[in-house]
Amino acid sequence: MLSFNRIRAQQRSNRSMSLGGMDYADPKKNNFCGKILMVSTLTALCILMLKHSPTFNTPSQFSSHEPGVTHVLVTGGAGYIGSHAALRLLKDFYRVTIVDNLSRGNLGAIHVLQQLFPEPGRLQFIYADLGDAKSVRKIFSENAFDAVMHFAAVAYVGESTMDPLKYYHNITSNTLVVLEAMAAHEVKTLIYSSTCATYGEPDQMPITEETPQVPINPYGKAKKMAEDMILDFHKNSDMAVMILREGSVKLPGLNYVNMGGYLVLVSMLPADNSRSQGQCVRGTDYKTSDGTCIRDYIDVTDLVDAHVKALEKAKPGHVGIYNVGTGKVRGSLQEGDGGSHKSRISSPQPGDYAEVYSDPSKIKNELNWTARHTNLEESLQVAWRWQKAHQNGYDTPLMMSA
Ligand SMILES: NC(=O)c1ccc[n+]([C@@H]2O[C@H](COP(=O)([O-])OP(=O)(O)OC[C@H]3O[C@@H](n4cnc5c(N)ncnc54)[C@H](O)[C@@H]3O)[C@@H](O)[C@H]2O)c1
Repeated sequence: MLSFNRIRAQQRSNRSMSLGGMDYADPKKNNFCGKILMVSTLTALCILMLKHSPTFNTPSQFSSHEPGVTHVLVTGGAGYIGSHAALRLLKDFYRVTIVDNLSRGNLGAIHVLQQLFPEPGRLQFIYADLGDAKSVRKIFSENAFDAVMHFAAVAYVGESTMDPLKYYHNITSNTLVVLEAMAAHEVKTLIYSSTCATYGEPDQMPITEETPQVPINPYGKAKKMAEDMILDFHKNSDMAVMILREGSVKLPGLNYVNMGGYLVLVSMLPADNSRSQGQCVRGTDYKTSDGTCIRDYIDVTDLVDAHVKALEKAKPGHVGIYNVGTGKVRGSLQEGDGGSHKSRISSPQPGDYAEVYSDPSKIKNELNWTARHTNLEESLQVAWRWQKAHQNGYDTPLMMSA
């Protein structure tokens, strides 16, 4: 108590005193001013040095076009197909920006890509929701994209029948946002990831690009609306547009998800692991040879190859529409259930169709693309091994099949 009072008394006595109308600065205040002066001088010096450094004022490599470098915006690049597309583009020396809201993708996939391609100007990840038009406009104004591969979407047929508005919003409306931003910033090339679900359940198989599109679930309808929007916009634009209508996708090195009436493999568990449902055959009462859905399963590395070929062959003012499939037909109990893994049988998925497979002649003739990984059992074996080694997806040691 005593010492405290003494300190206070000393402090008071050190204050500046008025003598004859003049203030005499006390030494402590003087010291304080000196410190401020020193800090300001140092700050000014730092700014000066930074300004003279070669990197100051240099825009990020992502924000300006560079001759010989194609900068691709991959929407949904933390997801199953998008992450593999990003991997392939990076391997092929494209510059890649991934935009994803991580609602269904996995940050682990981004980390793998970042570890594989750490060099500046190769890969950047932007966490954003495509439904947020303001953010999307900002992303386009701050980055110089040459092309967009638009994968981001919710993509469950069954879910789309339960929550259709989510699908129209996420797929149709968000595609509009992306398209508007592309138009405003003169991004010249769009590769759009669509689906064979836009055809619905056609009378004749295989599906060709001329088959009428009569989707039977909100997922397929939302994708068709997005396609229509793109095509209408394209009528008065010189944008290069490629629309790829994909069948169901599989890949080595992935987890499984019950989708499309059959086991579909997914590499990335979402943050909440909600897709870790194991293998599952959804329905065995369809009017098909084995009662299960018939699909044209395509390996994701083949699918990604089709996207890259589409990007390479995209021409200003031209629209290309292609079915991407193997042309081979499989039911879930015919193949894919043998060997080291077992599927469980469950009820059919609402809104699902019995049989869909496509004729890949057009894409073969025009883009010189053909599926190379057509052994489903082989893909399943690899996937199953990956699944067993990564029980928690990317939570366990990071790896990605190339
Ligand atoms: N997987 C298939 O069998 C299949 C078949 C045909 C077509 N497709 C199409 O391929 C595309 C990719 O499918 P996938 O299987 O990789 O799905 P996925 O769920 O693994 O990936 C979609 C990604 O988009 C992201 N995303 C979703 N909404 C977003 C938003 N509003 N803003 C930003 N990011 C968002 C998710 O977080 C996720 O990372 C989809 O457009 C899908 O319709 C897939």
